[in-house]
Amino acid sequence: MLKICCIGAGYVGGPSCAVIAFKCHDIKVTIVDLNQARIDAWNSDRLPIYEPGLDEIVFARRGKNLFFSTDVDEAIREADLIFVSVNTPTKKSGMGAGMAADLAYIETATRRIAQVATTSKIVIEKSTVPCRTAQSMRTILEANSTKGIRFDILSNPEFLAEGTAIQDLFHPDRVLMGCLQTPEGLAAQQKLVDIYSRWIPRERVITMNLWSSELSKLAANALLAQRISSINALSAICEATGADVDEVAYACGTDSRIGPKFLKASVGFGGSCFQKDILNLVYLSEQLFLPEVAAYWKSVVTMNEYQKMRFTHRIVRTLFNTVTNKRIALLGFAFKKDTGDTRESAAITMCSYLIQEHAQLAVYDPKVPPKQIIADLIEPGVGTNEVEVKKHVSICSSAYEACVDADAIVICTEWDEFKMGALDYQRIYASMNKPAFIFDGRLILDAPKLREIGFKVETIGKST
Ligand code: UDX
Ligand code: UDX
Ligand code: ADP
Repeated sequence: MLKICCIGAGYVGGPSCAVIAFKCHDIKVTIVDLNQARIDAWNSDRLPIYEPGLDEIVFARRGKNLFFSTDVDEAIREADLIFVSVNTPTKKSGMGAGMAADLAYIETATRRIAQVATTSKIVIEKSTVPCRTAQSMRTILEANSTKGIRFDILSNPEFLAEGTAIQDLFHPDRVLMGCLQTPEGLAAQQKLVDIYSRWIPRERVITMNLWSSELSKLAANALLAQRISSINALSAICEATGADVDEVAYACGTDSRIGPKFLKASVGFGGSCFQKDILNLVYLSEQLFLPEVAAYWKSVVTMNEYQKMRFTHRIVRTLFNTVTNKRIALLGFAFKKDTGDTRESAAITMCSYLIQEHAQLAVYDPKVPPKQIIADLIEPGVGTNEVEVKKHVSICSSAYEACVDADAIVICTEWDEFKMGALDYQRIYASMNKPAFIFDGRLILDAPKLREIGFKVETIGKST
C-alpha cells in the first residue's frame, strides 16, 4: 500500500490530503502536526476548521485510510511521499522583517525528515514558499542522505481558496508540479502525477521546472490581489464621481481579455496568502536589486490598506464626524464568507480604527469563535490593547442582537445570512437608533429597498 504523510494539519494540509484519501482508498494518508489540540480536533466530531463539505470527506475515510496523529516521526518513517504543509508566516523580526517568509517551520520539518527517514522519500513542498526554497530543502536532505536512501524534491503548490476548498480540490483549474529536470526528478514527479490523475484530467496536471512552479504560485496570488486592488482603486473614483463600481466591473469583465471574476470591490482583501505572498515577491525583488519591480507589487498592498482606512473614514464622516460611544454593529469578522478564518481580515483593521475613535462595537460572525475575535484585536501591531478591547467590543450571538440600539451597521464579510432575503431588515430597523445607517462594504445589499424602509445607506464604490 502506498503511504503518504502530510506534515502540518492546517487549512492547506488538512483538506488537500483528506481529499487524496477520499479519492484513493488504496493509499494510506497520515496527517501529522505538533499541535496536540489541533490533532485531537481532527479526530473529533468538531473539526478544527470550517469548510463546506470537509466533514463528510473526513468522516467517510477517517480510521480507514485517513489518520491524524502527533507521531510525526512514525508517519515520516513509513511514508513513500511526504507533503510539507507547515505554516510560513511573514517574519516579525530580523532580516526581511514584515516582508520575508519565516522558513523556520519548513526547515525544522525538513531536518526532521532527514533525521528519521530510513528509506528513500519523495518530499513535496506544498506550503507557499519563496523561490528557491526547494533548493534549501534539497541541500539539507542531501547532506543527510546515506547510501541506499535518496530524497527527491517536488514543488506542488496548492491553489485552493478557503470556503470552496473541497470543490477546488475536486475540480481544480490545474494542478501545478515542478521538479528537477533529471531522470530521477521526472520519475518522482510521475508518481505524484499518477495520484492526481485518478480524479483530475491529465491535461490539467501541469509540469515544469521547480523554480517556475514556486514562482507561479506567488505570481498567481499577486495577480489576483492586484485585480482586487485595481477595482478597489476604481471604487474610490466611483464614489467621488457617481459612477457605480458594479457597473464598471461588469463593463470591464465582459471583455474576454479581462474576464468577470475577482472584480468585486470590497473593504479590502484578507486571508493568509495574498498579503504574505506579495510581500514575499517584494522582498525577492529587492534582493534581486529590482527596486521598481518591488515598488510595483508593494503598491497592491498599499492600496489595500488605503481601502480599509478610506471606508472607515467614510463611516466616521457620515456619522456626523464622531462615533464616540456610538454602537456600531459589525457584521462579519472572517476574511471572506464560508470560513471561520480571520487571518489578515479587513474587519480587524476596521475594528481597530473604530476603537481608536471610541466607538462601541457589537461584533457578530457566524463561524468565528468569540475568543478568536478578541485575540485578533489584541494582537501586537493591530493598534488596540486588551483594556480598550474589553471596554469597546462586545461579541454577539446573532445579527439581530448586534443591531439592537445600534446607530450603524457595517457589513464586513459577505455571508449569505446577511443578504436581504435572509435577514429581516424591517425588524432590524425598528430596533436601531435613528437615523439608522448601513455601510455595505461588500456590495451585497439592495440599497433602494433599504432606503424605502428608512435606512441611510452608504455602499462601497457608489456615491449614493
Ligand atoms: C487597445 C485595446 O485593446 C482596445 O480595446 C482599445 O479600444 C484601444 O486600445 P490597441 O492599442 O490597438 O488596443 O492594441 P492592443 O492589442 O491592446 O495592444 C496594446 C499594446 O500592448 C501593444 O503595444 C501590444 O504589443 C501590447 N501588449 C498587448 C503586450 O505587450 N502584451 C500583451 O499581452 C498584450
Ligand atoms: C487565495 C487564492 O484564491 C488561492 O488560489 C490561494 O491558494 C490562496 O489564496 P483565499 O485567500 O482562501 O485564496 O480566498 P480568496 O477567495 O482568493 O479571497 C481572498 C480575499 O480577497 C478575501 O478577503 C476576499 O473577500 C477578497 N476578494 C476576493 C475581494 O475583495 N474581491 C474579489 O473579487 C475576490
Ligand atoms: P496553512 O494555512 O498554510 O495550512 P496553518 O497555520 O493552518 O497553515 O497550518 C500549519 C500547521 O503546521 C500548524 O498546525 C502547525 O502546528 C504545523 N506545523 C508547523 N511546523 C511543524 C512541524 N515541524 N511538524 C509538524 N507540524 C508542524
